[in-house]
Amino acid sequence: MPDLPQYLEKEASRFEEELCELLRIPSVSADSNCRDDMHRAAGWLHERFQALGLASEIVKTKGHPLVYAESPPVPGKPTVLVYGHYDVQPADPLDEWDTAPFEPAVRDGNVYARGATDDKGQLLTHVNSVEAWLATRGPLPLQLKFLIEGEEEIGSENLEVFLRNESKRLACDVVVISDTSQFGEGCPAITYGLRGIAYFELRVSGPSQDLHSGVFGGSVMNPINALTQIMSRLIDESGRIQVPGFYDDVVPLTERERAEFASLPFDEAAFCSQIGVTALAGEAGYSTLERRWARPTFDLHGIWGGYQGEGGKTVLPCRAGAKFSFRLVPQQDPHRIAAALRPFLESLCPPGIRMELIEMHGAPGALVSLESPFMSAAATAVERGFGQRPVFIREGGSIPIVTRFKEVLGVDTLLLGWGLEDDHAHGPNEKFSLADFHCGIRSSAALWEELSKIAP
Ligand code: BES
Ligand code: ZN
Repeated sequence: MPDLPQYLEKEASRFEEELCELLRIPSVSADSNCRDDMHRAAGWLHERFQALGLASEIVKTKGHPLVYAESPPVPGKPTVLVYGHYDVQPADPLDEWDTAPFEPAVRDGNVYARGATDDKGQLLTHVNSVEAWLATRGPLPLQLKFLIEGEEEIGSENLEVFLRNESKRLACDVVVISDTSQFGEGCPAITYGLRGIAYFELRVSGPSQDLHSGVFGGSVMNPINALTQIMSRLIDESGRIQVPGFYDDVVPLTERERAEFASLPFDEAAFCSQIGVTALAGEAGYSTLERRWARPTFDLHGIWGGYQGEGGKTVLPCRAGAKFSFRLVPQQDPHRIAAALRPFLESLCPPGIRMELIEMHGAPGALVSLESPFMSAAATAVERGFGQRPVFIREGGSIPIVTRFKEVLGVDTLLLGWGLEDDHAHGPNEKFSLADFHCGIRSSAALWEELSKIAP
């Protein structure tokens, strides 16, 4: 019988092929045309868990199904809940991909496909480590519960319902998620903070139909003008958000944390060239890492209205709209933000314009304790998998369910990210390094061993 590292080497290319199989399923949760694919992706995972001998089930929800699988309890050892998501973000703009988003392609040691890093590649590391453990060492040294959902990228609302209803079944000592990033190449990280989010759509309308801008312009409020005026009032030139009360619950960065961020090897010039900009922007008085990890933001994601075809058209359009969100930091409540935003927008809405604000989804930010035996075990496991001690960082993205795990199950989450921030998650040419994929699998196997040394 090979030992575990030998097994991982022997099976490495099959693991890569299986990842590609899952990546071929276009499981875009936001796209209602992908409903069958969501079921296919859930079914793929369910079969994979069954093949490992885990008790697995596909759980129907009001939205996309989730997959739940567990191994037998191990008395005297901790129970670990592994969370991941099989849904992905929409792949457009399609013409900016070098190869098709759902036809995974391997180039320069990376696999390119929508979902490669976020989160199919990362979540499969934990499935593969279980396979390797069972094949080389026998029963798992602790109980694992896998909870893989299909709605993370649209706010995890149905998972929250399942979590509250099934909290007994999901009981555990700690949660493990690989859906974040390393600090940089060769610098693995454990993330202890995530931002939250409050996501909205605003629709404005004016005249009952499009008008000639020469005949009517100047006498009627143009909905696009109104929309851009309203949006420009949400943030000032120094990057401060103007919604009344917006900062009331923001927990300020401590001097210690600021010093820790400042001590990380962050190269602004390299960061600029990585994303193709000549200068950075953001809230005055904060460093780039502080702005990205621990300060709230406002961003427009899409804006529409009027004529966008070839040539010019002198139209005064009758409607316009925008999608936008605020990233939040711990203690800011997305519902409170929505409640403050609505009257503020109404106060900014000029006469002659009707507005409709849709609250799409929200999630609070999260901070997890660095002072737990689980955290120390995780650091050792990452070091064993990557050959490098991890640094502790916060990140700016959101994983909506993390705070709910703490509230409902009373447990902390270990955010062990194998991705890189230039993996282009959510953008064209998303990728995942196959070397990191395999380091992730090794770290995961080491994690089961390290966590099993802790008395629950
Ligand atoms: N994997 C990301 C979250 C993430 C990205 C954490 C980078 C840390 C660093 C996750 O899948 C994601 O993108 N979540 C959405 C959630 C939202 C749509 C509710 C996000 O952050 O935009
Ligand atoms: Zn993700």
